[in-house]
Amino acid sequence: MFKNFYITTPIYYPSGKPHMGHAYSSIVADVLARFKRLEGYNVLFLTGTDEHGQKIQKEAEKNNKEPKIFCDDISETFRKLTKTLNLSNDDFIRTTESRHLKSVNEIWNRLINSGDIYLDKYSGWYSVSDEAYYDEEEIEEKDGNKVSKTSGSIVEWVEEESYFFKLSKFQKRLLDYYQKNEDFILPRSRKNEVVKFVEKGLKDLSISRTSFSWGIPVPENKKHVIYVWLDALTNYLSALNFPNIDDKKYKSFWPADIHIIGKDILRFHAVYWPAFLFAAKLPLPKRVYGHGWILSDDKKMSKSLGNILDPIEVIKDFGIDQLRYYLIKEVSLGNDGSISMQNLKNCINNDLANNYGNLCQRVFSFIKKNCSNKIPKKNNLKDADIKLIKNLKDKVPELIDKINNQNLNEYIKTIVNFSFEANKYFNDSEPWALKTKNPERMNAILHTILEQIKNISILLNPIIPISTKKVLDTINLSDKDISIENIKKDDFFDYNLELKNLDILFKKIDNDN
Ligand code: ME8
Ligand code: MG
Repeated sequence: MFKNFYITTPIYYPSGKPHMGHAYSSIVADVLARFKRLEGYNVLFLTGTDEHGQKIQKEAEKNNKEPKIFCDDISETFRKLTKTLNLSNDDFIRTTESRHLKSVNEIWNRLINSGDIYLDKYSGWYSVSDEAYYDEEEIEEKDGNKVSKTSGSIVEWVEEESYFFKLSKFQKRLLDYYQKNEDFILPRSRKNEVVKFVEKGLKDLSISRTSFSWGIPVPENKKHVIYVWLDALTNYLSALNFPNIDDKKYKSFWPADIHIIGKDILRFHAVYWPAFLFAAKLPLPKRVYGHGWILSDDKKMSKSLGNILDPIEVIKDFGIDQLRYYLIKEVSLGNDGSISMQNLKNCINNDLANNYGNLCQRVFSFIKKNCSNKIPKKNNLKDADIKLIKNLKDKVPELIDKINNQNLNEYIKTIVNFSFEANKYFNDSEPWALKTKNPERMNAILHTILEQIKNISILLNPIIPISTKKVLDTINLSDKDISIENIKKDDFFDYNLELKNLDILFKKIDNDN
């Protein structure tokens, strides 16, 4: 029987070109998706673009384009980014697709039928940039403008007829849910913020707009378009062929296992989305993980500060595995994390080139030179050999736990340590001194270290899929053998199998580069 796993990224606004923050969320989700596949799960990994609303309409107007044409272009750059980032997403959803329209209409109708929508008038603050309503106490005055205290974006006063969702009604149910499902919102620090926000009391939520037209019309009143967040959140269901709840996809994958998002949009995912689902009588996702901000040299990346690290440029200069590795290792998922060019270079040199890369290159070239490039025979293992392999195998359950808790940088650090130990083992056992003296012993050492390279490469595969695939190809491991299960096997290698050639894995970066 298949175990299913459904994971999503935020769907991004196609309002400008993708930046490092978008790349980060997507890479995090991809690493988790790839790991779950290695664990044997049947994974559905979804990403896409969020195309309706005032923000996009305004951006399109600025560019003198019809919104749909404008979205077609930029959505395509996000789709291309999935390739550049080497994402293993199974689907890419656009909220302008008809499958999504059907699904949003159904959600709207369900909320109408449950009696949770009423018509009234909204007057209050609205940020077009965040597509969010703010209370008086959530805004402040800055340089003569009213801005949101949390995002800093400008808010404007809005007064218009609007449909409301009875969010206030769900306050108690949400709080109970948070309490019963301890890990529904992670990390804990953010969960506490959400709980406090809900405890303060929830106001009903405006869920339609009338002052512009770029959106999904309210079925019974075409003057209104559905609030873009109600529209956008529903994408997670649309990709499962909702409203067809008998569909195999819906049945296999809903409720989602995890929504990966940034902390900026936690309220939408941890308060509004569950309340909409309660009202629609649908199960809630199992987890919402709100990761921290990527900062550049300790500051928020912004055009005016000129500190934007463009993911595409970084990938061109250093490679995609290098960027993926760096982001996952250096940033602790729950917290804000600063990245910099200098740290990126150090990380590539220290961890990838000098540690894992060096381990693979030196072992393969040694085998090529001294064993006619064939897998050496395993025999008479000594304690040091057994211990090396066993240490890693014993840690596998702990590593699985780390992934299941989204503790990605701890996961990497453990593996880097294995790689470090393996290099040390190679140095300490000095196979080069045994070539004529004791070739049997040399073979045992080489076999052991190959096995360890295999295991380390499997564990690193979700993070640096291209490089580890090269290594695993070299030792003749086929795709189906790249699995967590494989790590548990003893005697995996065929003795005497010839190794393939490996080109350079990671180029060292010059510091003045
Ligand atoms: O909010 N550091 O889209 P968006 C880390 N369409 N992550 C960052 C980041 C940074 N500096 N900047 C952005 C939207 N992100 C909505 C989502 S979902 C139903 C709708 C990431 O294009 C982070 O994941 O503004 C954040 O939540 C997301 O990009 C916002 O992307
Ligand atoms: Mg945003």
